[in-house]
Amino acid sequence: MRTLRISLNSKNILSLRDLSSAEIRSVLKLASSFKKDWQARKPRHLLPGCILGMIFEKPSTRTRISFETGIFQLGGSPIYMGINDTQLSRGESIEDTARTLGLYVDCIVARIYDHHNLEKLATFTSVPVINGLSNSFHPCQILADLLTIREHKKKLRGLKLAWIGDGNNVCNDMLLGCSKIGINMVVACPKGYEPLRHVTELAKEEGTRTNAEITITDDPKLAAKFADVIVTDTFISMGKDDEKMSRDAAFFPKYQVNSNLMSLAKKDSIFMHCLPATRGKEVTSNVIDGDASVVWEEAENRLHVQKALMYLLLKN
Ligand code: CP
Ligand code: NVA
Repeated sequence: MRTLRISLNSKNILSLRDLSSAEIRSVLKLASSFKKDWQARKPRHLLPGCILGMIFEKPSTRTRISFETGIFQLGGSPIYMGINDTQLSRGESIEDTARTLGLYVDCIVARIYDHHNLEKLATFTSVPVINGLSNSFHPCQILADLLTIREHKKKLRGLKLAWIGDGNNVCNDMLLGCSKIGINMVVACPKGYEPLRHVTELAKEEGTRTNAEITITDDPKLAAKFADVIVTDTFISMGKDDEKMSRDAAFFPKYQVNSNLMSLAKKDSIFMHCLPATRGKEVTSNVIDGDASVVWEEAENRLHVQKALMYLLLKN
């Protein structure tokens, strides 16, 4: 397979800043091939003996299980470390933890609140680090989302994607992914909940190269109009529970994805959500459980894109 000859420029994948548009396309291509083999139950032990260290400061269902399953399927093994399982919980520094882990494992997946701590981990360890979600970015999710969109729409370039709700970690990487790939993206969020300013600027700059228009508005109807893809996420990300009251007031009900909002999009539009979802808040049950919803394919595709990412980072 030709894709197997490509390698990635960056040692770490902390956000989609670390992948060029050509690299994103290669990850998707390889992920599709892994998916076909997986569906045919054909084993691909391409990383025999590789050890994946997994440091998780926050809970996870999809990220943890898809990475653990993925490394097993590639012939390697995972080591999961929850928040209280390492000496980090007793004050050992990130630098010393990073150096230590690099002595034992071949790659690290980290789900860490503060993105600067993730960057520190990546700087001080000798092995590749993949972001399993920080407060600022979630690159693996967006790779899975792009694969899912391509499977449904048979193309990526020129589509319109509407992000409705919180301009959060997932939204930040969605901006980078869409702009690098040539998808027009409109973010509709309340004032004060916009995506990171420097990320929006970078996305706009990328968009000038790929003809992707990037728009930030507070009008969900404007965003949804004629969209090919409607995406939302929880109004209350992990670590934001103490903002529940103010967030509910800011987002609900104006930014809920319901059938009225979906009816503004194209007839064949799809609905996406990284999960976990709160039915009745950011999305109604009839939308997330309805015909336009592709959320289970999104979740499955996490497995395939992450196997592709691990393979491309570790094959040498
Ligand atoms: N979408 C996602 O990352 O889900 P988890 O929090 O369950 O890993
Ligand atoms: N924005 C959500 C995504 C969860 C996968 C959070 O950070 O909690």
